[in-house]
Amino acid sequence: MGKHTHMRTLQVQDISLSFGERELLKDVGFTLSEKSRAALAGANGSGKSTLLKAIAGVIKPDSMTISITKDARVSYLPQSDIVLPESTVYEAAEEGFSRFDTILSEMKVLEEKSSEGGDDALRAAERLAECHDTLIYSGYYDRKARIESILFGLGFRKEDLGRSARTFSGGYQMRIALARILVEDPDFLLLDEPTNYLDIEALVWLEEYLKAFDGGLMVVSHDQGFLDDMVTEVYELFNAKLTRYAGNYTQYVERREEEIKELEKRAKRQQEEIEKTEEFIERFRYKATKSRQVQSRIKALEKIELVEIPPHLKKLSFTFPPSPHSGNDVLKVEHLSKAYGDNRIYSDISFLVRKGERLAITGRNGAGKSTLLRMLAGVDTDYDGSIIDGAGVKKAYFAQDTENTLTPTLTVLEEAEGNADTKDIPGVRNLLGAFLFTDDDVFKKVAVLSGGEKSRLALLKILLHPSNLLLLDEPTNHLDINAKEMLEKAIASYGGTVVFVSHDRHFIKNLATRILYLSDEGPEFFDGDYDYFEWKIEEKEARFKIERRTEKKEEKKDPQSHEQLKQKRNRMKALERESEKLMAELDSLSREKENLEEEIAKPENYSDGKKISSLIARKDELEARIAETEERWMAVSEEIENGKNS
Ligand SMILES: Nc1ncnc2c1ncn2[C@@H]1O[C@H](COP(=O)(O)OP(=O)(O)OP(=O)(O)O)[C@@H](O)[C@H]1O
Ligand SMILES: [Mg+2]
Repeated sequence: MGKHTHMRTLQVQDISLSFGERELLKDVGFTLSEKSRAALAGANGSGKSTLLKAIAGVIKPDSMTISITKDARVSYLPQSDIVLPESTVYEAAEEGFSRFDTILSEMKVLEEKSSEGGDDALRAAERLAECHDTLIYSGYYDRKARIESILFGLGFRKEDLGRSARTFSGGYQMRIALARILVEDPDFLLLDEPTNYLDIEALVWLEEYLKAFDGGLMVVSHDQGFLDDMVTEVYELFNAKLTRYAGNYTQYVERREEEIKELEKRAKRQQEEIEKTEEFIERFRYKATKSRQVQSRIKALEKIELVEIPPHLKKLSFTFPPSPHSGNDVLKVEHLSKAYGDNRIYSDISFLVRKGERLAITGRNGAGKSTLLRMLAGVDTDYDGSIIDGAGVKKAYFAQDTENTLTPTLTVLEEAEGNADTKDIPGVRNLLGAFLFTDDDVFKKVAVLSGGEKSRLALLKILLHPSNLLLLDEPTNHLDINAKEMLEKAIASYGGTVVFVSHDRHFIKNLATRILYLSDEGPEFFDGDYDYFEWKIEEKEARFKIERRTEKKEEKKDPQSHEQLKQKRNRMKALERESEKLMAELDSLSREKENLEEEIAKPENYSDGKKISSLIARKDELEARIAETEERWMAVSEEIENGKNS
């Protein structure tokens, strides 16, 4: 369609922002063009949302220079705190067309004028025709079809469109907001975790939509599968700095892993170097004769710039507390039927959840996954049929809208302590630490926490009570890769029973022992094998493009053969022997040199120029040998350390 004649850009420079002591953004900047497909990556709490808020004008940074091509429009989807108008779903989405309000009111005036007659009327009619052209060209008159296709794509049904937007769950309100922004058809889209509340169908739809989108895009997401096909560059926010990585998300992750490994290696090597040097200094400090070598090493030590390991690489890890005993039948669901008004969600379903099972619930939009979980949790009791808890069952429920389970005005510590039994309160600080809330973090208000931080806090809260049945609704939403991994490990080693809703394919695959698939045809169970499930589903619904979610290739590491290991061991032994030998040699050379220097210093030798010069020549020679031996020793030590690390 070529809606623009020249390349549009969004340029951001020198954004700085601090919260108290904490510097979140330090002179960062980037440029988006209308071709840009950028991901904004970084650990939970690194400041991604803050950066987007600053650009969108929601918060005011300490400094910022921003320049946008004239007339270019920027739309922004926040990660949370979405406020929808009091209107229907359709009307809320239609607000995306409010940019035409000015032209529409101008047209009203023009219409009146054009009916009045005279020269003015002619000019008004001409201008009116122009306005009509603009509207036609921009698709304004076809807006109904456009709005509906976007809403349907995001999982709304025809009967939803007339319902009041604010009656929808938080996840669906987010979808309405997303729909409105897509309807706006901006030149630049800034999306903060748009996939969090999408199921796989809506996710695939959004992916396709964004691929066809002809403006510039910057998107925050922790979903590798979603990002991979879409982005061509990744900006990583880390330590208040923004670094650009060209390429798709997997390439970024791989390069980042390499960099981090390299960094760790360098830090380790440096530490060893420092220790070795310190050892050297210590060893020779009191031998005046070594002063040259010692001094140069002391200087080198002072000048050294320490390699720093990013603090966010601290892996968090936790385990669920031991679960109290429960009977073998944990939940017995019999003849369960549920309807919202006329909308029948299930009729007459029965199943049994057995002890130790990890049941994943998946399925299409509106199939009622969260509803089922709420009923299992006992939060929603408005249904027909029965749900019977087994003997000794103690439930812990993690709701999808974590934000609503937290109190914004409390501090992190208060929120956690308020949930703990009095006797457990002393342990809360430790637990908070394990969830990466350290030092002053615990005094932050819940309201300012990032999405991932809120999820972590909500997870922590359910740990404070012993349970043997976890009911988790999309627990990985907002979590970064590290946090997702820790949650996966914790669930895998949990002693109780788990029922969870997730659209994270990786998560389901690694954890589920059984899958409950909800569709229009009713519930269907798949035992164990996720690949089989996927195959069945794909067969059934070609629209389910689950296979597009790319899987990270397992890296195969060549096992070292027995022979190789033996050789390596022998080599290491030889090196260690050599190192000792060199040290001894250094000792004796130094002793010899000291003796020589004493000899040179003896008054009786002063007059013997010949002897002195031969002594000095000998000393020079010794120094050269010492330097050589030292170098050799350093090299050998290094090889030993490298050998230990490989
Ligand atoms: N008003 C505020 N006062 C103090 N700290 C704040 C405030 N707003 C945000 N923060 C802190 O700034 C950090 C960055 O928050 P931000 O929401 O930008 O993170 P994020 O990168 O989007 O994380 P996530 O991946 O979890 O969404 C967090 O540690 C958060 O607690
Ligand atoms: Mg965020």
